[in-house]
Amino acid sequence: MAIRRKPSKASPIGIFDSGVGGLTVVNAIQRKLPNENLVYLGDTARTPYGNKAGETVIRFTRECVTHLMRYRIKALVVACNTASAYTLPRLRRNFKIPILGVIQPGSRAAVAQSKYGCIGVIGTRATINSHAYQKTIAKMKKACQVLAYPCPLFVPLVEEGWLEGSIPIGVIKKYLAPFLEKNIRSLILGCTHYPVLKPVLTQVCGSRVKIIDSAEEVAKELENTLWKKDLATPSEKRGTQKYLVTDVPEQFKRVGAIILGRKLNHVHRVTLED
Ligand code: DGL
Repeated sequence: MAIRRKPSKASPIGIFDSGVGGLTVVNAIQRKLPNENLVYLGDTARTPYGNKAGETVIRFTRECVTHLMRYRIKALVVACNTASAYTLPRLRRNFKIPILGVIQPGSRAAVAQSKYGCIGVIGTRATINSHAYQKTIAKMKKACQVLAYPCPLFVPLVEEGWLEGSIPIGVIKKYLAPFLEKNIRSLILGCTHYPVLKPVLTQVCGSRVKIIDSAEEVAKELENTLWKKDLATPSEKRGTQKYLVTDVPEQFKRVGAIILGRKLNHVHRVTLED
């Protein structure tokens, strides 16, 4: 049996998402930790996860994380909200490296921001139905009112690159009407794709609503975790990025360029083991 060496400080950080949206988290991590090497796996063959059953999300995620372990990753970020909602305790039992999800950091930021008033959460159907955000926020602040609704048309808007103008604004107004009626003070973007819509979401919500981008929050938490566990890279050079996908890379490259604002090189198609 092959013995896998333990990860070291120089090992890469693994980032997993159901597809391309987790690149919003890559963006935030690169800004905060530019010298870290990253390996990203997007399960593009089976995306979206947001309309699938919990057991399916659990199985797909386990297969992807098992594959990422081949790269001797020193920490894992489950950038996908849907996967974070269903899989974190299991993953932490099965894989002995620090594993971060996006729900805890996003919830913490929202609670810190919202002394009064209601917190809004938007995400995929699976994430909202899991009640993961609602439960996490309730643990942090018992009396906090949370309003959570899915916004399934936001992902295709981002994937089409429709990021401004009357179509996204109309869709956003429709989905956000119940939140604005309730006078929410903060809105958690509980889906990897949504930070790309932040300018139009801000336009619709106005300045009274603080938009919480889980991507920024998870990057901060990752930095703390690496320092605490003595896993931060000692390198002073810019880190490398490797992108892995489970289907043909073209669509990933196209949407990825919209999300990252630059061309993506080094995108490889991989086959997941059973
Ligand atoms: N990555 C997913 C999430 O953050 C959105 C796309 C999907 O449904 O797979 O929930």
